[in-house]
Amino acid sequence: MKIWKKTVFPAGLACCMSFAAGAADLPEVNLARAEQISAGRCSLCHGVDGESASALYPRLAGQHHRYIARQLADFQSGQRKSDTMASMAEGLTSEEMLALGVYFERKPTKAREARDAELAAVGHFVFHRGNEESGVPPCASCHGERGLGTDELPRLAGQVPKYIESQLKSFGQRERTNDNAVMHFIASKLSELEIKAVSLYVSTLN
Ligand code: HEC
Ligand code: HEC
Repeated sequence: MKIWKKTVFPAGLACCMSFAAGAADLPEVNLARAEQISAGRCSLCHGVDGESASALYPRLAGQHHRYIARQLADFQSGQRKSDTMASMAEGLTSEEMLALGVYFERKPTKAREARDAELAAVGHFVFHRGNEESGVPPCASCHGERGLGTDELPRLAGQVPKYIESQLKSFGQRERTNDNAVMHFIASKLSELEIKAVSLYVSTLN
């Protein structure tokens, strides 16, 4: 994680919170405007700090700004289908989308508890080793060893498990098609059990 190399933290602080990127790496944007939009339009579902208000909605805290901005543009153009998010993205300018991305990326994240350690262990295997039998590559090879993602790839660490499950299913069934087909190939090869397990496992990462 870049931040640890660039920023010196007082001893003891580094253990407990993690940010997706150092503030220094983020572009200058109108954060006041983003906060205003978030309070008025987004927090109802995504939480005041992007933490997600319920198991139905994805966490935005710590997600990469460029990924967030791209998803908003895709919701607006209809390339990524969601009736809810299409109306939420309506009228946002590209500056506002980027500002919202930076606003949420700066928010701190927390790991979730594994409710079922055995299931999480299956997820750990799938995430780090994939499934050679069915041709699933390790998720870690793209999303990173700790699921932190990159500028181009979404962070999975700490995401709401139900949301991850729903996205894997819609990639698999070709309902979510704004990606470059990689996730379709992978998700269509995952079993129901693997989907549940890997979704639970990534939710426990931070
Ligand atoms: C009424 C509830 C609701 C509100 C309000 C809402 N969203 Fe969402 N948002 C959702 C749902 C549901 C999804 C998942 C859509 C899907 O299944 O593809 C989502 C998905 C997203 C995603 C994609 C996340 C990812 O990991 O790919 C982004 C980014 C996002 N919302 C940003 C926003 C922003 C910014 C606002 C305010 C302008 C907002 N949302 C307001 C319900 C909401
Ligand atoms: C070859 C690279 C690659 C591998 C391997 C990979 N992914 Fe992805 N994944 C991507 C890309 C690229 C996207 C972004 C798609 C987009 O922009 O819509 C993505 C998106 C996702 C999303 C959507 C996140 C969100 O916030 O909506 C989920 C969930 C996901 N991947 C889970 C997984 C899981 C679980 C595995 C392992 C079984 C995996 N991925 C393996 C490249 C990969």
